[in-house]
Amino acid sequence: MLIAQISDTHILAHGSDHPAADFRADCLRRSIADVNRQRPDAVIFTGDTTQFGQAEEYARLRELLAPLEPPLYLVPGNRDDKSALRHSFDDLSYLPANGDFLHYVIEDYDMRLVALDSTSPGERKGVFCPLRQAWLDEVLSNEPNRPTLLFIHHPPFDVDDHYVGGYRRPEEAAAFADIVRRHPQVVGLICGHVHWLVECQWANRPARVMPSIAVDLRKGIDETEAREQPIYLLHSLSDEAGLMSEMKRVAGEASNA
Ligand SMILES: [Fe+2]
Repeated sequence: MLIAQISDTHILAHGSDHPAADFRADCLRRSIADVNRQRPDAVIFTGDTTQFGQAEEYARLRELLAPLEPPLYLVPGNRDDKSALRHSFDDLSYLPANGDFLHYVIEDYDMRLVALDSTSPGERKGVFCPLRQAWLDEVLSNEPNRPTLLFIHHPPFDVDDHYVGGYRRPEEAAAFADIVRRHPQVVGLICGHVHWLVECQWANRPARVMPSIAVDLRKGIDETEAREQPIYLLHSLSDEAGLMSEMKRVAGEASNA
C-alpha cells in the first residue's frame, strides 16, 4: 500500500490580500498533480488545511483538491475550524457528523488507518484528552493483529528546540505514547504542524513529521536548493523495512497566478 501525505497548506481565500495567497494555492495545485502521477492508494492530509478556518478558504481548498484522484483522508490542525471543515467536506462519509472529535478509522486497506484529532477550539497546542485516549485504546484493542498507521496533526514529541512542549498537558502526550506501546500492531505515526522534516522513533515506533506544502512557511530545508518546490511524503510498509518514507520534491516552476 502506498500512501501520500500532504500537510499544512494554509490556504487563503480568493481575493485575500495576503501576499502568499496565490502562491500557496499554486503549491497545493502542483503537489496534487505530482501526487496523482505517483498513483498512491490513499492520500493523508495532516491538517492546517486553511490559514484562518474560514468558509471562503475551505471553498478554495475544495476547488484545489478537486483534481486529486486517490481517496483523501484528512484530520484538522489548530488552524482549522472543525465545524467549517465538516460543513465543507460533508460528502466525506468517514468524518463524524457530530461530536467534538474528527477521529475515525479506515478499514478499506491492508493497513488500517486511524485518524486522530489533536485539536481543541482556541488551543494552538496539541490535545489528547482522556476521552480521546479511551477511544484510541478501544480502537486498537478491537483489531490487535492488523498493521495500523496513526495520523495526527500535532507530534507528541519535541523537535529540537523548534517545537518543545507541543501538547497542552505533557501527561496527555505521555498517555498517548503509553497506549501505543501497548499495541504492537501500530507500525508508525505521521504528523504535520511543525513545517519541518523529521524522522525519529517514538513509543518504539517510527514517527514522521513532514514540511508544510506552503513553501513560504516551510522550515528546516535548504532554501537555496529548492526555494519554490513543495515537498510531500510517500509512505509504504514492507516486512523487510517496516515503514518506509520517501521525500518527493514537486517538479516544475511556480506559476505567476
Ligand atoms: Fe501549520
